[in-house]
Parts: sequence; C-alpha cells; structure tokens
Amino acid sequence: MEFYIDTAEIEAIKKYWDMGVIDGVTTNPTLIARSGRVFSEVVAEIAEVVKGPISVEAVSETAEELIEESKKLAEYGEHIVIKIPMTEAGLKATKELSKLGIKTNVTLVFSASQALLAAKAGATYVSIFVGRLDDKGHEGMDVVWETSQIFQNFDMDSKIITASIRHPRHVIDAAKAGSHVATVPPAILDKMTAHPLTDDGLARFAADWAKVKA
Ligand code: E4P
Repeated sequence: MEFYIDTAEIEAIKKYWDMGVIDGVTTNPTLIARSGRVFSEVVAEIAEVVKGPISVEAVSETAEELIEESKKLAEYGEHIVIKIPMTEAGLKATKELSKLGIKTNVTLVFSASQALLAAKAGATYVSIFVGRLDDKGHEGMDVVWETSQIFQNFDMDSKIITASIRHPRHVIDAAKAGSHVATVPPAILDKMTAHPLTDDGLARFAADWAKVKA
C-alpha cells in the first residue's frame, strides 16, 4: 500500500519523506491556500523533495479548458498528477489526458458508480472522499470496499486513493478494503506514529538502564 501526504506544508512533507513512510503528495486549492503561499512556489518546492506522484488540482470548467490547464500543470515535473473533478467535462478531459500520457487523479468521488466511470475514462487514480461521506452520515468506507471489489473483478488499471481521512482507523480500514493508496494529513500521520505504550515503555527502559549502566 502507498501513502501520500495530504498537505501543501513543505516542512511536514520533508519530515515524512525523510522518514521513508510516504510515497507521494496530494494537494488541493484549499490546502495550497492554507499554506499562505503562491501555488507555483509550493509545487516547485514539493517537487524538489518528493520523487513520487504529486497531485495538483485543475480548476477549469470545460473539458477543453481542463485539458489546456492540465498540460501546463504537467510541466511542473515528471511526477505531476492532475486532479480532475468528477464531472462530465472531467471525464472527457480524463480520456484525452490519458491518451496524451498525462496522469490523472479523478477527485471528489463519492460513489462506486462514479469511480467505475472514472476508471473507464482512463483515470490513473480515483480519490474517494470517505471523511466527507461520514460527515453526512454515510459509511464512506463502504464506497472503498465496493470500488475495490469492482476494480479487482475486472482487473482495472485505475488505482484507488482513499482521501478525506479523519483518523488512523480510516487508514487501517482503507488497507483492509484493498485501497492502493491512502492520502493522509500530517496530523493523522503523527497519530499513527505515536502510542502511549511506546512512550511508557521508553520511559521504563530509560529508568532501568540508568540503574544498571556502568
Ligand atoms: C485529497 O486529495 C483531498 O483533496 C483531501 O483528502 C480532502 O480532504 P478533506 O475532506 O478533509 O478536505
């Protein structure tokens, strides 16, 4: 399973890249805005650090505009993946970008039927937003399970990204459902790393070692 970090914060990206636990990065306009920095600078800096897939979002409305915007975004580097909205225009753009060899991450996917259409259109990745579904009282992970089953049934090329992750349990459930990727915010990676019993164990070993060391 691959982990992407879901942020535009360069320090967090460096931290987890250096620990060897992330394979790529996903951003969106909200995350870039939250960084308080200019898009082009942020993406160039991320590309300096991360030698794996970096998703950046195209925000145009028509298929033609999405294709032109995506071509420009792809110039940021060999690892750039273009996030394309799950719309009729987005599917048309996905098909054309796939023919051009530009990798796509069809985003804002909330049902297995949307995921199936995105895969048919040639999406490299489909991002299923489990947290936003949970927020509305649905079971977001059910969509990951269904999509995973369908992609396996037909040996489809698209990879599932479980996105909109709210807690470590989402990551474990995504792994059990066969999601190829989980894109995880830094705060959740922090929670996945730490455990109070690890801290207790370290404190006890340190205390006992102080008693016996020469
Ligand atoms: C990643 O590709 C998504 O944009 C992100 O996971 C959305 O997360 P949110 O629902 O917490 O905004």
